[in-house]
Amino acid sequence: MKIAQLSPWLLLAITSNAFPTLLMEELAGNSVGETVKAKTKRQSTTSPQGEGALPLAPPPFDAASQYVSNQGAHAFVAPGSGDARGPCPGLNAMANHNYLPHNGVASITDFFNGVIEVFGMAPDLALFLATYGAIVDGNLLSWSINGGEHVGIGGSHNNYETDSSPTRGDLNQYGSSVNLVKSQFDALFKLQPDAETANYNLEVLRDFRKTRFQESIDKNPYYAYLPISGILVSQAAFTFIYRFMANKSAEYPEGILNQQTLKSFFSIYGDGDDAEWVPGHERIPDNWYKRNDGDQYSIAYFNTDILYFAETAPEILGIGCNKGTVDSYDLLDPALLTNGATDAEQISKNPVCFASAFAEAELPLITGLDTTALQPLFTLLNNITGDCSSIGEVNQSALTICPGFSLYGGPTGPVAPGAIQS
Ligand code: HEM
Repeated sequence: MKIAQLSPWLLLAITSNAFPTLLMEELAGNSVGETVKAKTKRQSTTSPQGEGALPLAPPPFDAASQYVSNQGAHAFVAPGSGDARGPCPGLNAMANHNYLPHNGVASITDFFNGVIEVFGMAPDLALFLATYGAIVDGNLLSWSINGGEHVGIGGSHNNYETDSSPTRGDLNQYGSSVNLVKSQFDALFKLQPDAETANYNLEVLRDFRKTRFQESIDKNPYYAYLPISGILVSQAAFTFIYRFMANKSAEYPEGILNQQTLKSFFSIYGDGDDAEWVPGHERIPDNWYKRNDGDQYSIAYFNTDILYFAETAPEILGIGCNKGTVDSYDLLDPALLTNGATDAEQISKNPVCFASAFAEAELPLITGLDTTALQPLFTLLNNITGDCSSIGEVNQSALTICPGFSLYGGPTGPVAPGAIQS
């Protein structure tokens, strides 16, 4: 990983040898008394982003540049019958507020500019996600935020869309990979039950990630957890919730993700027992502030968050699957899958590197394109991740023990015999 890719705030935290948090707060201009008072207002954390999450230094906050309009040209417009809305709440909200084309089909440039403008994603991550979508799920230029096979992310089961997502059901557990499962949303919601102090930060989300991983093992006979869709995309589905949805402020520049903001981005309307999911109506809340331009969420930053999750949920760095019945989860040996090119220890040091090298090896098979057509993506991947050793060829036969493995599928599919829905 090239050090230049780190945001200044992450770099500071890493090179500072973990400055005591209070000292960093002092440097940010808060008195220790104020800091202690502010911290006790929130549940379960000493830092708004979660105990032990990096960086320790709070990022800058600038209201003018971080405000995201949901007014005028960006007022909410509900999707019509011809508009695509899919498994990604961030992209759905962007389309509903005219930061992406309202029909949900957009170009690489639209996605790239949109996620930077609305959420403060760093260009390296934005370019990777947008380009990977166009190649794997689109026509090399554009793609849909729902769609079917080779049309959009909703049709990309196991190569982009994946199992054990936060709120979306597993494809072969529920027959849909796009529908929100209310019991999953409720399980997350209840982790911060006090509306006054609720904050769905990384510490909360890594607990929820562990719960959801086990739930898929326990309930989805076809659960498959693979290098790109699992190690990479699945973690993003969790870290993005706090890193992008949290509302930043002068008091909490890292952001607070409270109940109302969470519900707004997940299209949950109503309160208590009356709360219900309205498909595709994700909203950017009023008075909502994104990440600071000096603190964009990059690939290196994301890698750090994956390792933070793995401290308490090490299972997320191993690949594996259920073998056709619930609770039959077996690990896949990465050495077998990659013909000896990598092993579990290497993966645990740099999961993003492994996933991107795996993508490079697998993409000709996934897309049916030859390496010449794929060269721009390979060059992009290599520029972003630096020196990741190549995997060569993937040993596909290692995946035959996984009945849920597929290169495409969704947004609807068969319910596996023995699946448990709850
Ligand atoms: C071009 C950029 C993006 C692409 C290609 C993308 C793609 C995806 C895909 C394929 C999924 C399904 C993952 C799964 O099955 O678990 C997903 C889910 C998700 N995405 Fe995005 N996404 C992008 C940007 C964003 C942004 C900016 C946010 C900001 C909030 C976001 C938040 C989420 C969340 C929270 C989920 C999990 C939904 C759930 O299951 O509860 N994404 N995204």
